[in-house]
Parts: sequence; structure tokens; C-alpha cells
Amino acid sequence: MRDTAETAQLSAHLLAWYDRHARLMPWRIGPAERAAGLRPDPYRVWLSEVMLQQTTVAVVRDYFRRFTDRWPDVQALAAARDEEVMAEWAGLGYYARARNLLKCARAVAARGGFPDTAAGLLTLPGVGPYTAAAIASIAYDEPATVVDGNVERVMSRLFLVETPLPAAKAELTALAARLTPADRPGDYAQAVMDVGATICTPRSPACGICPWMTPCAARAEGVQASLPRKLPKGEKPVRQGTVWALLTPGGWVIERRPDRGLLGGMPGLPGDGWDGAGGPAPADLPWQDAGEVRHTFTHFHLILRVLVARAAVNPQRGDVVADFDPAALPTVMRKAFDLAAAAV
Ligand code: ADE
Repeated sequence: MRDTAETAQLSAHLLAWYDRHARLMPWRIGPAERAAGLRPDPYRVWLSEVMLQQTTVAVVRDYFRRFTDRWPDVQALAAARDEEVMAEWAGLGYYARARNLLKCARAVAARGGFPDTAAGLLTLPGVGPYTAAAIASIAYDEPATVVDGNVERVMSRLFLVETPLPAAKAELTALAARLTPADRPGDYAQAVMDVGATICTPRSPACGICPWMTPCAARAEGVQASLPRKLPKGEKPVRQGTVWALLTPGGWVIERRPDRGLLGGMPGLPGDGWDGAGGPAPADLPWQDAGEVRHTFTHFHLILRVLVARAAVNPQRGDVVADFDPAALPTVMRKAFDLAAAAV
């Protein structure tokens, strides 16, 4: 492990790079404004960090704008109806997170604002070590250490850690903590994430423009692209099933999924049990095969056959929804619905 002078030099060099190259983001206060004393709204930092756990900055921008236009502060979000928030979240995935988001907003509104330390933030529903450290450092300048996949990758390369993940986690976290400066920890956290997302990328890192090119131990050995090492993951199983879309004179038949479990609380098409619930499509309706949808979840690949029919009444599960808005569907259900709507 390097000495303190060396780690201080590494973080100072990264901050100097960030002063010139920080990415602009709608939830971010840039380095010049921070130096002038501005700090970002913890609500916006929290919301962006929860969204960024799902997907890329490019996708999050639009969701973030829509959420903050509609619910500009945590009190507004806390007062929203569950279905409205779930509908705005549709397409981002991991719907349990959207429910936790609301639970957290309500807890924060009830206590009159966000806690201002990582330890306090950790007590909020749905806020884990990563999010707590990100908010504490970015919004409150606490020197909390932020460790996500990007940071692990950067540390494994900078310090040439060859132990595979997940066993290497503790070591990578300790290295990240050593580098976290007492001065400007919020800018520092965002700088490491920017390097990880834009330069120190998984497959072909752009070492030529990296602020840590010279001290990078993996680059010195030419092994940067092979780090971090990972234990091979098992193949995901393939699950198959059927969903059905029924168009009645009053509208489409839509089911609200159970709160717990896959796509919990989200609207969807009734299914035959591919998700562990349901039963066969109602017999004696003129079902038409609308095609097949493929979707990959965290733990399995799904192949769904989509049936579609028109009927005078809804004979079974779900509710007839007039003026149904397909944008409220989670992605896999949206794919299935679009096939059905095109075929009917
Ligand atoms: N990824 C997740 N959070 C981020 C942040 N605050 N800045 C840049 N990339 C991020």
C-alpha cells in the first residue's frame, strides 16, 4: 500500500482533472460552483443515484427531468400516489426500487428532510452503503467512500488487484477509502465515477487520456483490460410462458401484479404461470398468436408467447382499463403489448 503523501497526490491530480473535465448533469453542481460554496439539493442527488443504479446517465437524464418537473422536492414526491410514481418509473426496471423510492420519500418528508450524514442516511428505507456514501459526499461533503462497479474497476487497475470479485471487494473498498480526500470529497467521488464511466471502461479503457495513466499499475504491466478479474457466473436459465391480451369494447384487460416479487405492483398482461402465478388463457376465445417476446431479467432469460383476442366481456382475471396508457407498462410487458396491439 502506498504512503499518505502518494495517495494525497493521486487524489489531488484527479481533482485537477475533474476541474477541467467534469461532465455536466442536471443533478450536478460543477466544480466551479461548488468552489463558490454551492451544494446540490440532497433530494436531487438521492433521486439521481437511485436511478443510476439501474442504467446509464444517458437514460437517466430524461427520467430525472420528468420526475423533478412533476415532483420538485421530496415532500411533493412523498404526496404522490403510488401508481403515478410506478408509471413514471416504467421502463427503468427493478420495480422494487421504485416502491422503496416512495417509502424513502415518505420517511424523509415525515422527519422533515434528509439526514446529513452517511450513518443517518443508511437508516432510510432502500438506502444502502453506496447511496448513503454518494449523498453524504456529494450533498454534504462528508469524506464517505463511494464504491460502485466503476470505482471497483478503477481501483483494481490503479493498484493491480488480481484477486477476483467478489472476494476482492473488501480490499478494493479499503483502497478507495485510502484515496478519499478530506478536502472536496464530493467532487472526488464524482471524479472517480466519471473516470470509471468514460475512460476506465470495462473493455477498451482509454488510457491515453486518463489522469491516472502514469501511476496505474495495471497499465504498467499491460493487463488493464483483464481487470477486475471475476469468478465465472453460471449461465442464466431460460423460462418460457404465455401472456394474453384481451381487447373488450371497454378497453384492454390489464392485471395489477402482486406487490411482492417480479415486476411487483406494476400493471401487466395476465399470464399462464411463467412467474409462478396465474393459469391458462380462458378457453373458447378466438386467440391469435401475436408472436414471441424475449427479455432478460437478473436471474433468467424469458421467452413469452403473446396471445391476443377480442371479446365482448372480460371472462376472467384483470380489469378492463379504458384509455390504457402502454407507457405505464414495465419493458417486458410493453414489448408484449405492442405485439398484441399490432396483431389485433
Ligand atoms: N454514476 C452513478 N452516480 C454517478 C455520479 N454521481 N456521477 C457520475 N456517474 C455516476
